[in-house]
Amino acid sequence: SGSKLWGGRFVGDTDPIMEKFNASIAYDKRMWDADIRGSKAYAKALEKAKLVTAEEKDYILHGMDQIHDEWAKGVFEVKPGDEDIHTANERRLKELIGEPAGKLHTGRSRNDQVVTDMRLWLRDAISILKGNALQLITTMVERAAVEIDVLFPGYTHMQRAQPIRWSHWILSHAVALSRDVEQLQEINRRVNVLPLGSGAIAGTPFNIDREMLRQELAFDDISINSMDATGQRDFIAEFLFWASLCLTHLSKMAEDLMLYSTKEFSFLTLSDAYSTGSSLMPQKKNADSLELIRSKAGRVFGRCAGFLMTLKGLPSTYNKDLQEDKEAMFDCFDTVHAVLQVTTGVVSTLKVRDINPSVMEAALSPDMLATDLAYYLVRKGVPFRDAHGISGKAVFLAESKSIPLNQLTVEDLRTASPLFSSDVSAVWDYSSSVEQYSAPGGTAKSSVAAQVEHMRTWLKKQ
Ligand code: ARG
Repeated sequence: SGSKLWGGRFVGDTDPIMEKFNASIAYDKRMWDADIRGSKAYAKALEKAKLVTAEEKDYILHGMDQIHDEWAKGVFEVKPGDEDIHTANERRLKELIGEPAGKLHTGRSRNDQVVTDMRLWLRDAISILKGNALQLITTMVERAAVEIDVLFPGYTHMQRAQPIRWSHWILSHAVALSRDVEQLQEINRRVNVLPLGSGAIAGTPFNIDREMLRQELAFDDISINSMDATGQRDFIAEFLFWASLCLTHLSKMAEDLMLYSTKEFSFLTLSDAYSTGSSLMPQKKNADSLELIRSKAGRVFGRCAGFLMTLKGLPSTYNKDLQEDKEAMFDCFDTVHAVLQVTTGVVSTLKVRDINPSVMEAALSPDMLATDLAYYLVRKGVPFRDAHGISGKAVFLAESKSIPLNQLTVEDLRTASPLFSSDVSAVWDYSSSVEQYSAPGGTAKSSVAAQVEHMRTWLKKQ
């Protein structure tokens, strides 16, 4: 243990299994760049506090740049004693510059260092995810603009409900994703706070200029309380929840698309590029992309629940349990990063009109206009509740005659209400049905076009 950062008071070696159990280098080396950025900023603060000379600072910065190059070129050699990324970089710095390396950690603890690294790393990750999400939303909004004239059955409770525009469906998912982007930006405000200078628990005694560190590392704020700063992982929990909700949205969309792509629905065809086959059944074309998108929601939700479970019951300040935060963060980033890109591919390549030009609209049926039949009566002065009952009777009558709702004669309809007359034929028109819904948020063409414009404006502001 003598060679360890903390080895002074130890006698003999750490048990090899414990050594491996304790180490996080296998995964936290992903933060090598953040760790170097943090250390370079800290070296400058040390110089300002007169804890290192200008010359020593230059040695440290130069050494750190060399370490940066080694990581970037993939030649950094992780040694057996390298417990984590912080230990590895400091060990290498010592090898490169000798003595001054030992001053770098003055007043600093891995407790404030690790959480600084994570915030730097997550800040970059968030900006990548935001880019991925905006690309997907753009793809969806532009698709909605192009296919605005396609009508298809809307479902509630997975039962045929009312005719809607296909673009209305697309936008419903795009709008959910826009909330995800907004929430991600909200979270980023709380990620972008500097903990460095908090030490292990008590703060820093050495005139370390935290405001200078904040500027160096481009954080918006500095943390208020050193115990909170080193011991809290709210920003990780928020990110994990964000990933869970975002993928829940995409899981919902994937499930719809999967259903619509079945032979039974045949509303759309998934591109071969996002489908796979069966090793046994030659005819099969499976929507594996959609199934995996759906499944990943469960995966990230598990990460979120697992980490919250780790946090629950912890006492104040840093505890090694917190080391569990990193795999959850990396895995959720990797997963959402992949899902957003695959979803963009799926949505931009699936075919609706070209391969099945009329299947979506052909799937509409007159019973989906039963609400419109009630509205016909409302327009003649019948209270809606009564009109609903009368239209329901008409539905029952058509069902008992085994004919579509629009095949009932005016005489048939008059048995339910004397207010029906020949102008009822105008009800049986899907286009004019959807055009009624012209209030903001509705499925009329003008309203869907306004939604497209709203989303385009929103996208420009991001
Ligand atoms: N590898 C550790 C982590 O990920 C760094 C912090 C270690 N701090 C300590 N006091 N042992 O949390």
